Parts: sequence; C-alpha cells; structure tokens
Amino acid sequence: MMKKNSAFILFISFINFCGFSQKQTNGLPIIPIPKSFEITSGQFTLSPSTKIVVTSTSHQNEIDWLNDYLDKYYHFKLQTTIAIPKYDSYIEFAFTQTEIKSNEEYELTISNNNIQISAKEKSAGIFYAIQTLIQVLPVEKATTLVIPCLKIKDAPRFEWRGMHLDVCRHFFSVLFIKKYIDLIAMYKMNTFHWHLTEDQGWRIEIKKYPKLTQIGAYRKGTMVGPYSDQKFDSKPYGGFYTQEEIKDIVAYATKRHVTIVPEIEMPGHSVAAIASYPWLSCTGKQIEVEKGWGVFEDVYCTKDSTFEFLQNVLDEVIALFPGKYIHIGGDESPKTRWKICPNCQSKIKSEHLKGEHELQSYFIKRIEKYVNSKGKQIIGWDEILEGGLAPNAAVMSWQGIDGGIAAAKQKHKVVMTPGSHCYFDHYQSAPSGEPLAIGGYTPLEKVYSYEPVPSVLNEEEQSYIMGAQANLWTEYILDEKQLEYMAMPRMAALAEVLWSEKDKKNETDFLNRLQTHFLLLDKLDVNYAKALYKVEQKITASSKPNTVALELIANASLGSIRYTLDGSMPTANSEKYQSSITLDKDITISSALFKDDQLKGKISSRNYEINIATNKPITLKNEPSKSYNYGGSFTLVNGVVAKLPRDNNEWLGWSGKDIEATINLEKAQEISYLQIGFLTEELNWIYLPKSVEFFVSLDGVNFTSIKKLLTEDFKFERFAKISFPVTTAKYVKIIAQNFGKIPSGKPGAGEDSWLFSDEIQIK
Ligand code: ACM
Ligand code: ZN
Repeated sequence: MMKKNSAFILFISFINFCGFSQKQTNGLPIIPIPKSFEITSGQFTLSPSTKIVVTSTSHQNEIDWLNDYLDKYYHFKLQTTIAIPKYDSYIEFAFTQTEIKSNEEYELTISNNNIQISAKEKSAGIFYAIQTLIQVLPVEKATTLVIPCLKIKDAPRFEWRGMHLDVCRHFFSVLFIKKYIDLIAMYKMNTFHWHLTEDQGWRIEIKKYPKLTQIGAYRKGTMVGPYSDQKFDSKPYGGFYTQEEIKDIVAYATKRHVTIVPEIEMPGHSVAAIASYPWLSCTGKQIEVEKGWGVFEDVYCTKDSTFEFLQNVLDEVIALFPGKYIHIGGDESPKTRWKICPNCQSKIKSEHLKGEHELQSYFIKRIEKYVNSKGKQIIGWDEILEGGLAPNAAVMSWQGIDGGIAAAKQKHKVVMTPGSHCYFDHYQSAPSGEPLAIGGYTPLEKVYSYEPVPSVLNEEEQSYIMGAQANLWTEYILDEKQLEYMAMPRMAALAEVLWSEKDKKNETDFLNRLQTHFLLLDKLDVNYAKALYKVEQKITASSKPNTVALELIANASLGSIRYTLDGSMPTANSEKYQSSITLDKDITISSALFKDDQLKGKISSRNYEINIATNKPITLKNEPSKSYNYGGSFTLVNGVVAKLPRDNNEWLGWSGKDIEATINLEKAQEISYLQIGFLTEELNWIYLPKSVEFFVSLDGVNFTSIKKLLTEDFKFERFAKISFPVTTAKYVKIIAQNFGKIPSGKPGAGEDSWLFSDEIQIK
C-alpha cells in the first residue's frame, strides 16, 4: 500500500549527495539513536487496514501495547491475523534470526508493504522495536500514517539505564508514576529506582508495621522556599502506596520491560520510621516526621531489635518487587547518636569494630547477608564503601565518580550517578530564570556529554560499570508538572548516553532530533523544559577600565539571539546579536533566541552596575577554592550583582579562609561609599563573615581603617555597606573574616564554613 512521494525521495538523495553525515537519522526523531540506521526507498502507510501477523502468544503484550497507543493517540487499532495478508500492509514478527543474541536487541525493517520486527522471542527487543516505530510515526492524528522505509539494527551499550524518583519529599500519584514509567520505557531505559522511605515520609505499606504509614506517611507541614529562609507551612502533607497499588505498578512496569528497584533507606534518612516506632532509634525519644530538608541525627540504632524490624520490612518489600536488586540507601548517616549510645558502643566492642564507620559497614553487611539469603542483591549509595564494602554489594556512585572507581577496582558492580551530570534536581539554565531548585548546574548539553566509564579503569575494571542513572530528588519539585520539567528533556539525553554507541553520539544531531521529538512530547502532554534555547550572558574584562565586555552565548544551530538595552522585552525585530557589547554604565540587558520569527525558550534579563571598582585590578591574599573560582578575582569587580538563587558563575567561594581583597583604583580619587556582597546558605555550609573591615590607602602600603562592621551588630545579610565623608583614595582594601567552624546542630557541624562573595562596589 505504498503511496509514491517523489518529493521525499528527492530530499533523501539531496541529503546523501551533500553528505550531511551529522544528520544521522535524516531528521527522523529517534531517541536514543540506533546502532545502525539506513533509509531505503519508498514508504509504508500504517492505517486501520494494516494487519498484525500473530504467530504465537509470546508477544501479545507488545501487540496490546501498540494497539493501546494507536487507539489513544490516533483513535484506531490494528487487527491481528494468523496468515500474511495478500493485499493489505502488515506488521510481522520474526524470532528466528540467529544473529540476535541479547534480550534487548532488535531489528526493525520497514518496507513498502510490511514492517518486520526481529528479536528474541518474549524479549524486550520486541518492545524496543515498537518504541522506535512510534517515534517515527507522524504526530498528527490521522488514519493514514506514512513513514519512510528504513532498516534499523539496534542494541544497548549499557545494561543499567535508570531513572530514580524520590516520592518522599513530595508525593506522586499512581497515575503519575505510570506516566513516568512510560517515559522511561519510551527511551528504552530499563530501571526505575523508586525512593520510598525518607525523613519526611514513609511511602510503602508494610502490613506488619501499620504505623509506618499511619504515622510515618504524614508530616505536619513542609519547608517553603529556599532552605536559607527556614520557612514552613503548617498544611498536613503525605500519602503512601498500598501493597495492591505497588503490585499494580510493578505489573505495569514489567509489561514495559522496566525493572523497579525499591529503596528502603538505612541507617540514615529514617526519621519517618523512627517517628512511627521511636524504639528504632538510639534515644527511644518520640520525634516527628520531618518538615524540612537536610541530614538528621536520629538514625536507626544498631541493636538487634532494629535488624529484626528491618528484616520484617524487607520480607514484605522483597515479596512485592521481582527484580534482582534491593536498594538499602546507606548515604548521609551521621554517627552522633551511635557515639553515645550504650547499645551501639557495646555492638562495636562485641563485633571488634574500629569505631562508628565500621559500625556502618557492619550494619550494611548484616543486611546484605539477610537480603542475599532471600536470593536478592543489595545496592547502596557510595557511603557503603565506608569501613569496608559488603561482599556482594553493588555501589551507586553519587558523590562524584571516585566511589564508583573504588568499587569497580574491588570488583563490585557499579551504577554511575554523579551529581555533576546525573542530578536532575539541579538547575538546567541560569537559576534566575528557573523555578527554585536545590542548586547545582546540569544543563542538557552536560548530561549529553556524560561518559559513564571512567578512563582510569582498565578494561577488566570497566566491565563492572553497569551503566548510569539520573536522580530526581524532590525537595524543591512540588508537583507533576515541575517534575516533568526537571526530567525532560535531560532524560532523553541520558537515554542516548546509555543506549547508543559512543561514536554515534553527536550533540548537534541530537538537538535536531530533539526539536522534532518535542512535537511527540506535546502530544503525550509532557511539560518539558526549553532550556536548550537559553542565552547565556558572559562578562569578561574589557581593555578599558570601568567598562566590561558582554558576550551573549547560545547554540547557533537553534536560532539567532535578539536583545534590548532599554529594559523592554526583545522581539523578532530587536537588534540581532553579532559580537561582544561594551558596557560603560548601569544597564539592563534582555535577550532571547528566535528562529523563523518565533521566540524559542525564555527571555533572560540581567542588570549590570558599573562603578569605580568595575574592571579595576584586584588582588586576593587568599585564593578562592578551586571549585568556586569562576572568572577569578575579576568576578568581584565585573559589574554583576548576583541574583539569588546562586549561580556559581557569579560567586567566589573560600572554605575556612578570610577574604582580603585590594583594589587598585589606578589614580587617587574621591570616594564616599563601599559595599561587598555575601551569600548565606547554611544547608551548604555557607555563612556570612564574622566581620567586615574597610580600609583606604594612597600608596598601597599604609592602609587606614574606615570602619569595621561586626555581623552580629549590624545584622547585614546580603550586603555589608558603608557611607562616609568624601575621602581621597588610590587603593581600597576589604577584609571579611570567615565565620569559622560550623556550630553544632547545623548541617556540617564542626567543619570549616564557606564564605562566598559576588561583588565589590565603590562610589
Ligand atoms: C544522595 O543524594 N544523598 C544519595
Ligand atoms: Zn544505638
């Protein structure tokens, strides 16, 4: 039932002639990109008269899935037949090909009047072939769906292609969990890591311990806004999944070839369990389910009764989830309670352990033994390396990649999920244009650039890297729409990292396919972010003092940048950005990307405050920390007063050290105002300085103090600033004294605090 379309064929030969090798799928929006792909001549028309040839019941699940999809989005279904039809187009399954070896491999051949799917019988490969097929269908609803003829051979690079979801900080409905699993499956990912227990809520029904959900699933309020505000509402919040709901979700995932890895956190992040059964902790005191975010000192005690509880919980969990792995958490578990608990101390003695770190290892090993006895494996966050790995444990490397490297060297299986590339709770464009997030900066391109196998590993060690996954922690992700926004399209980028061959990856080609693929996401009602269209504003020193150079940066293949300097919103007719702009006075710049006169993404605006300090030579006695030294000392005089929340490109950060900044004004001049900006984020160990002292000098040697502000007395928060009678100065020095060690009861207690500054102004 081929319909001739000469325009299409001409287009193809033009592409081939020009050798557009980066257009790997000739514009067909297949994500992740297949291993081999060839467009052949002709086209296939899928319509209600297309038949599915069914030769066994082994792939009924996949046929049903395809028909449900067609029914939902195109309002027709395909009929099945047992013999190849003479005149109609048809879809046929072949299970005999010997070269198809793995369960996830498939071949998809679309010819003029039939579609052939080759895979192993009952395999995920059949499902993945259908996922590829639905991605090449035209998105518009119609009853004749024309697709080009093609031949695809495909297989994944990694065995663990995962997405995580924290349903504890915020709760997500059964319906939404299914939608999330649908997305995972569409990108040929195969693992859903379901984070079910936390300080702020216990979300899985355990029949033996009903209070876990009667009490532990609800909190009396929730932190509102950034952690630094320490504001809370008093609305009861909670929810949990019954075992019946979990069975339903597991069955749903299984049909989509997605394995669910349930996470039951221990020994830390267990406040909700302890609030339900206070005897689980070292103190036995009644506490409440947490309303705020952080790391809390009440963790499971290591007495035997806790293990009995956890084993009973795990019995019910193991019965619900058919997969091989049970995630036991293991991260961020303070040892404060264990240090003074008689039960924990006597456990250290009786087990001949060297302190609390080995007690953590004892905890995990004991649980592993139990889980192994039930025929399952444990996986845990990389803190389970502390004090020695349990013999069979797999490790999830989240604090960078070092944990993963160490585990692979010890011949343990590893899933990579470093914060730098795999934390989708991080910002995806400049924070000022994004909904409040936990911090970090993980744009789409960075996710796409991720290589899960560390090059320091030898070939044998590399074989322990099972793959990678992205984590979605939901402290700041309040609802489904926001979750989709944070997940998509970064998830599509990670899917390609995990499925496709390394040499097939090409960012430009991916972004091209993605933009067409957005139409499908619109159809599926997915609220994806458009951060790929971001315009970054980058400031550099210009050759003239008191001016800075502004570059506007975007991906040129996605459109052209238009901008305004008068505070108005840019349109398709605004000035087109060509080259860097010199700023010599206070100004607001608004910019955005336009393609074919259409605004793409969002408009971003930023103010620049040009003053006597701007672009003057500045020296710092103490170098900022390597991780927070973007732009060097110039960052403090670049005309940018940082917006909150934090964008690391706008700040310098010192750990445990003072700021001592000297600015050379290059000639003696009259000044009467000094200002320096600081950041407070106690969750991230960032504190205001203890004091700030301002000095002036004419020779750069002898400095006179103008004023010393003590944070306590002056209560400055964002800025320390002073006005004073006009004074002549050639040099200005500012000393901001580091807060010192973090006080007890605060995150990071006893560690050096950080001091962050964005900008110095002189008027
Ligand atoms: C983690 O992000 N605490 C594993
Ligand atoms: Zn204890």
